[in-house]
Amino acid sequence: MSYVPPPRSLRIACPPKINLYLRIVRRRDDGYHELATVFQSVSGGDILYATEADELILTCDAEGVPTDESNLVLKAARLFQERYPEVAMQGAAFHLEKRTPVGAGMGGGSVNGAAALRLLTELWALEPDGEELAQMAAQLGSDVPFFLEGGTALGGGRGEELSPLPTAPLWLTLVRPPVGVNTGWAYRQWIPTEGGSTIEAFTAALASGDPVQVAGALRNDLELGVAAGLPEIEATRKWLQSQGAVGVMMTGSGSVVFGLARDQRHAEEMAAATGAPGTAWACRCLTREEAALVPQRV
Ligand code: C5P
Repeated sequence: MSYVPPPRSLRIACPPKINLYLRIVRRRDDGYHELATVFQSVSGGDILYATEADELILTCDAEGVPTDESNLVLKAARLFQERYPEVAMQGAAFHLEKRTPVGAGMGGGSVNGAAALRLLTELWALEPDGEELAQMAAQLGSDVPFFLEGGTALGGGRGEELSPLPTAPLWLTLVRPPVGVNTGWAYRQWIPTEGGSTIEAFTAALASGDPVQVAGALRNDLELGVAAGLPEIEATRKWLQSQGAVGVMMTGSGSVVFGLARDQRHAEEMAAATGAPGTAWACRCLTREEAALVPQRV
């Protein structure tokens, strides 16, 4: 049965991301890895609802998604309550329609956390400035700050130092093999390598808007190590190549692998083809305006 939000609810669409480029610069003393990455918002994703309530609660239509305090939605609420004593006793009832696969490398949980910050700003009539929101987002996770901006962005540091890039009108086919990946595990599998495309080469290719040029400059330093432990990654890569994808790469820590399509029709054909080694779907790259986390009244 589909979810019927209570009166005066807010709703927000949560488009996920892929990493078109991910270079690991070094392992830092704090255990994180210094990155040069290009985040890209893509169409589709979850819907998060919020309504005023006496307590903080989260429900979800999908099994296997934690709805306790470990979920970034409730963690976001707790951060607001610590920072703003006037809302410390305030509640909110969240409902999550989960569409982005978990353990996919698409920031599905992170965009929920960023969306919760936006929803609660409205619901609890708070006025955090951009810097405060970005700080809270970075506390929630390395790629949460990106989702406050969305679109296309270069990420430095552990992913939280952002500068916007122009968006290329690219279409992709995504495949989620029947296995999820834990982000911490993926980073521990990192195998340092020499060479590879530079960030300058990648941003120049992206600026051309040509999928073939972008394909030639894709990079993900996490893929080699993750694929060494999970044969599904290589199988998915091969399948996308057999469908004529102009470039193929794992996103973030995996396990989703994306294939760059020539155009929308090609992306949809690949997604509809039989024999995919997992769930396949087509999506397109979103601009910052299209990916903005804007709460709507329902
Ligand atoms: O920041 P977040 O909680 O999403 O990161 C999850 C895990 O991924 C971290 O505990 C860390 O092991 C790893 N990570 C990393 N370097 C990054 C981002 C994440 O090593 N830049």
